[in-house]
Amino acid sequence: MTSEIRVDLTGGVLTITIARADKKNALTNEMYGALADTIEQAQQDRHIRVLLLQGDGDIFTAGNDVGEFAAIAAGNGPSERHVQRFLRALANSTVPIVAAVNGKAVGIGTTMLLHCDYVVLAQDAQLIMPFVNLALVPEAASSYLLPLRIGHVRAFEMFAMGEPLDAQTAVAWGIANKVCANDQLRANARLMAEKIAARPAGSLRAMKKLMRDAEKLVSQMNSESARFEERLASAEAKEAFLAFAEKRKPDFTKVAPQ
Ligand code: COA
Repeated sequence: MTSEIRVDLTGGVLTITIARADKKNALTNEMYGALADTIEQAQQDRHIRVLLLQGDGDIFTAGNDVGEFAAIAAGNGPSERHVQRFLRALANSTVPIVAAVNGKAVGIGTTMLLHCDYVVLAQDAQLIMPFVNLALVPEAASSYLLPLRIGHVRAFEMFAMGEPLDAQTAVAWGIANKVCANDQLRANARLMAEKIAARPAGSLRAMKKLMRDAEKLVSQMNSESARFEERLASAEAKEAFLAFAEKRKPDFTKVAPQ
């Protein structure tokens, strides 16, 4: 397992920490692989009653590693990609998932929250989905789950404009449960995870299964993934990745729509 994903099992709560703070916890293929393995194995482990997701440093995660997006777009991606396995593991998890989010949750950092069961936000949390900024499309079944959760017009605006959503609004719109002071985040999330861990685990798992149509979610992920691959190969996306590498704003006006 990569050291950039840390796990710790205490009192039935498996804490999964994204630990790549120097790169703002951007997620690499290797990290997706470790996350997928952890969530898959947790389903079979009777000692694990709750999963708790958190990020080290001043940000939950900057989302997918943009350098890896660019490598895939250039045909130099890894031979085995783990992101879909991670997303399927999230969709299929019957173990309850708590998330503790501080700072920015970018891209998959926000869309993974739609698969969590209890979300605590620090005061400084910001949810951002810049898929369209990068000329891509949303993933993690968020194109289905987000409009369902917050309504079409709000979801369209979040996706299309890629502007951050603050913590209070995220709670008001039903994306998260509560906001707390930054320095109380981990303690708050841990407390809730422990409370859930004390509940009857079999009942919770059966309830969660009834609440979510995992088959529908995986099918939506497959449709998104097909569109995502097409967009990754587009001239628009190439301009977006080049602009990121050159630390400038992309200029989409010189690229004709495809
Ligand atoms: N992929 C790869 N590297 C990333 C990254 C990402 N998604 N996000 C941040 N990093 C790297 C930066 O390149 C920088 O590396 P360097 O120190 O080698 O130059 C380092 O992490 C610190 O990032 P920086 O941009 O200096 O931090 P910041 O606090 O000014 O801004 C963000 C933080 C998250 C707002 C900004 O980094 C960002 O917008 N990242 C891209 C997010 C994104 O588009 N993700 C894809 C979603 S689909």
